[in-house]
Amino acid sequence: MSVVPIEFAAHLRRIPVYPAAEGYALPDEVALMASNESPDPPLPEVIRAVEGALGTVNRYPDPSNAVLRRRLSDRYGVPASRIAIGNGSCDILLAAAEALLEPGAEVVYGWPSFSIYPHLSAATGATPIPVPLDADDRHDLDRMAGEVTVATRLVVVCNPNNPTSTAVPLDEIRTFVERVPPHVAVLLDEAYCEFSLLDDPDASIDLLAAHPNVVLLRTFSKVYGLCGLRVGFALCGSESFRAAVDQVRQPFFCNAAAQAGAIEALRHQDEVARRVERAVAGRILLESELDDLGLRVAESQANFVWLHLPEDADEADVVRGLAERGVLVRAGRALGREGALRVTVGSDEDNVGFLAALRGLVQA
Ligand SMILES: Cc1ncc(COP(=O)(O)O)c(C=O)c1O
Repeated sequence: MSVVPIEFAAHLRRIPVYPAAEGYALPDEVALMASNESPDPPLPEVIRAVEGALGTVNRYPDPSNAVLRRRLSDRYGVPASRIAIGNGSCDILLAAAEALLEPGAEVVYGWPSFSIYPHLSAATGATPIPVPLDADDRHDLDRMAGEVTVATRLVVVCNPNNPTSTAVPLDEIRTFVERVPPHVAVLLDEAYCEFSLLDDPDASIDLLAAHPNVVLLRTFSKVYGLCGLRVGFALCGSESFRAAVDQVRQPFFCNAAAQAGAIEALRHQDEVARRVERAVAGRILLESELDDLGLRVAESQANFVWLHLPEDADEADVVRGLAERGVLVRAGRALGREGALRVTVGSDEDNVGFLAALRGLVQA
């Protein structure tokens, strides 16, 4: 019998496969420093809230995410009608692409940056305009502003930037936003903003009042440590953006356990502060020890570091060598730039273990 392959849509061939890290089925003793996750387990109160939600899963979850949006509104001072919830913040990114982009439209973003951004144009037939980062692995906002044309519908600035960990200060972001025409959506992806010491993480919210085209994308996956539940949110400058991303998605995109866990996690801001402190201490240790090893490290404002390997080091060999020593990190090649590693700040034990393993590999 001849097997005729299923005919898929042409755009499927354009969509890059997301480079998810490996290591989900490995033993506990492996240091998982590849996915910018929190090394801390969920708080007992969050676990109890999630368990409490499980008793009602014979019913659909609240499609309007009313309680979560109200709590976020109380915390950030943005009306609930301008807060979008997502099944992870990636869900909102993909919805934004569907709502804003189409063939002929352009989307501007820095590169290397978050791996999902090339997906936005590939899925919609829009034209990607990736703008190289500067020599310090930072967004080149001047150059990005210069790439905005009459065709631009969406500009994405990842701040702090994944994978390079660098951030640009809010006054530079403000100047940039002022240069973008008001009909072009500017999405500031702030998945890691809590870890940045450049500005108060919530200072960017002021941008929304003056710029209805600005959207701040946040997540419960990083500092809140709930990536396994999948909850993200967007603080939007206008209600129309929130309505658009809700319109293009399936109903009930945020499940009941995720809503309950996020609502509870928001109540524990003291824990958020503690986690930030620990992550910052860990990153300072990693940066200074890597510096002592003679490696160039980008100035991190996130819960991970980006280090450039020596010219004669083979990136794949180093990543393999680390894995053999029980440490998983991400190779730069999968993230847009060969010859670098992205290493998540782990527990104290993970950080020390990584440094010892790397020393053995780059000094040998
Ligand atoms: C910059 C950035 N934005 C968004 C996300 C998506 O996070 P989530 O979909 O888990 O909210 C990530 C995840 O790694 C990220 O690095």
